[in-house]
Amino acid sequence: MPVYNEKDFIPKQAPGRFPATWEFQTQAPSNIAIIKYWGKKGMQLPMNASLSFLLPQSLTTTKASARLSDKISDKVKFTFLFDGKENASFSKKIAVFFERIVHYVPYVKRYEWTFESENNFPHSAGIASSASGFAALSKILIRLERTLYPEADEILLYHKTSFLARLGSGSASRSVTGTVAVWGTHPGIPGSNDLYAIDYPFEIHREFRRMTDLILLLEKEKKEVSSTTGHGLIDKHPFKHPRIDQARNNLSRLSEALQQGDWDSFGQITENEALTLHAMMMTSNPYFILMQPETLRWIRLIWDFRNKTGIPVYFTLDAGANLHLIYPDVYEQKILSGLDELTQAEKIINRIRL
Ligand code: PMV
Repeated sequence: MPVYNEKDFIPKQAPGRFPATWEFQTQAPSNIAIIKYWGKKGMQLPMNASLSFLLPQSLTTTKASARLSDKISDKVKFTFLFDGKENASFSKKIAVFFERIVHYVPYVKRYEWTFESENNFPHSAGIASSASGFAALSKILIRLERTLYPEADEILLYHKTSFLARLGSGSASRSVTGTVAVWGTHPGIPGSNDLYAIDYPFEIHREFRRMTDLILLLEKEKKEVSSTTGHGLIDKHPFKHPRIDQARNNLSRLSEALQQGDWDSFGQITENEALTLHAMMMTSNPYFILMQPETLRWIRLIWDFRNKTGIPVYFTLDAGANLHLIYPDVYEQKILSGLDELTQAEKIINRIRL
């Protein structure tokens, strides 16, 4: 598998012709990190390597309509509609995204764009809506590139999709690959690099073939501190270097657990990563807490249930208060009847198939 560098993603010549109008609709899933990305360097490069699972039923759908423009401007001209309405805060993020990527996709400036986007899950609630959103936008742009450059190399375009998505939101780089993605250089994962995510290259044990990620919607309010702010606090964080070492070791151990079918180690590492992420927030300067009392109450319920039954159900957290429960499908009935509050709770279920 070739590893591309940044220059490989710059088109070498202008396309032969531009269609006068162009339309395309696509979907992209969110993802949940098991090994967390928290802290960046340079232009959206990760401080440590991360590993995630796609959440195939938590989707952003985006439709693009492009019209060839008479004038080529420096800025990309676009209108962005979310749930049918203009959304100033999303539009601002997308304008920044275009500024960062235009060098790699200069052809986008030839068009005036309308994007219509919607999620089938609540945004800004610790479910990575920016991941699926930027992944969908990147898939659209690469589809246009494929139309303009019919000879382009498919593998290069596959990685370029992740490369572009990363420049929107780091975790978005992991929403355009297969089910298990690795983003960031790690000595034990061949092909892994900081510029784009790759498919996890080793065979995963059949123990993990059918599992569920159940998101407990404990809070739907917009979170108080954005991940951008949180990432920014890592540079001067007293635990920055220990965290880099811990993430590297955790990814090595997780990779072994995935190959060996070891749910116990998988679960211990998953929970350790989730709690470390939040511990890093609580020990930043300024410090902050994104968990809510309900988050902690559920963590205790899950631990009690697991201790009593031995059933492998573990939790993880994104940058928010909502819990993700991860377990092998075969235990679902026992988990639902043992943790009976789960039946009533508001939840989103994703079936992960390896
Ligand atoms: O992609 P961002 O900048 O929203 O950061 C996401 C960070 C976490 O969701 C907390 C962890 C991760 O690896 O997805």
